[in-house]
Amino acid sequence: MKPSENASRLPIRPRRLRKSAAVRALVRETRVEVSKLVQPVFIIKGDEKEAIASLPGIFRIPLKDIGTHASELADLGLGGIAVFPKIDPALKDEQGTEALNADTLVLRAIREIKKAAPQLPCFSDIALDPYTTHGHDGVLTPDGSDVDNDATVEILCNMAVLHAQAGADFVAPSDMMDGRVGAIRAALDRAGLSQAGIMAYAAKFASAYYGPFREAVGASQGGGPADKSTYQLPPANRRETLRDALLDEQEGADILMVKPALPYLDILHELRNETRLPIAAYQVSGEYAQIHAAAQNGWLDLKKARDESLTAIFRAGADFVFTYFALAYARNIAQNSL
Ligand code: PBG
Repeated sequence: MKPSENASRLPIRPRRLRKSAAVRALVRETRVEVSKLVQPVFIIKGDEKEAIASLPGIFRIPLKDIGTHASELADLGLGGIAVFPKIDPALKDEQGTEALNADTLVLRAIREIKKAAPQLPCFSDIALDPYTTHGHDGVLTPDGSDVDNDATVEILCNMAVLHAQAGADFVAPSDMMDGRVGAIRAALDRAGLSQAGIMAYAAKFASAYYGPFREAVGASQGGGPADKSTYQLPPANRRETLRDALLDEQEGADILMVKPALPYLDILHELRNETRLPIAAYQVSGEYAQIHAAAQNGWLDLKKARDESLTAIFRAGADFVFTYFALAYARNIAQNSL
């Protein structure tokens, strides 16, 4: 057939879908929703909130203010709160004994949060790094050369029971020991806590992006292996990561997490196709710090970089995101909708 004189030489023009804001909104595929963002919160015992130099806009919150803080997050419609204690260094020892103190800071914080904002999902980290003098996520082997897997898992089970009893909706083992999800599930069930969920840090990499977090919780360094690479995943390995993450599903995890987020979107995407469980992604401290640092220099637009990074994480397949931007994002949305 002879093409008509008027026929465009270019019948397929994708730009038709981008011609106006209204059309772009119609065809938009991915949205960042406040209810899908979880705010990580650092907790201290003291009276005054403390700024964290490497995490602009993020503070260590005193225990006495944590209830009010949780209420604000709930009122803004955020998806949850994740609690991380910074304890008095005098309470740390080689075994992380303070983690099993039934009245330790984080347990008091969880109780306050559940009192002030009972509907706000509360995630609590299960690992020993805030409590050990060497800063590792578990206890060391007798010769100090490595983290002792099975001895650590036993302690984490007891820790998880305490956190769930205090009211945590999901305990979140972030330690990467073998077999900890199954052991924690069994311990919770034995303790009559079958409703307490497990969000496994399933694909957690030995990453350089945790630096500001370690400052925020005052994680110590010294003793044991030089870094966490005997338990956290190697950034170079895709197959090893998927195998390890899917074990957490088999062991009974309710939610799988990928962490960090932006450097590991391929893993997030692939895991999305391998599991029917919800997947969380953690936009970690270093990812947040990076955007802020560039914005402070005038090199990036803070809000645009924030929104683009979050959109990318959802597009790759996250159901929800742990992000230090959560509260600021929710406040922005609330202001704009006034
Ligand atoms: C503790 C834990 C870490 C983070 C969350 N839980 C640090 C680490 O594994 O060294 C990092 C979170 C962040 O960087 O924002 N195991």
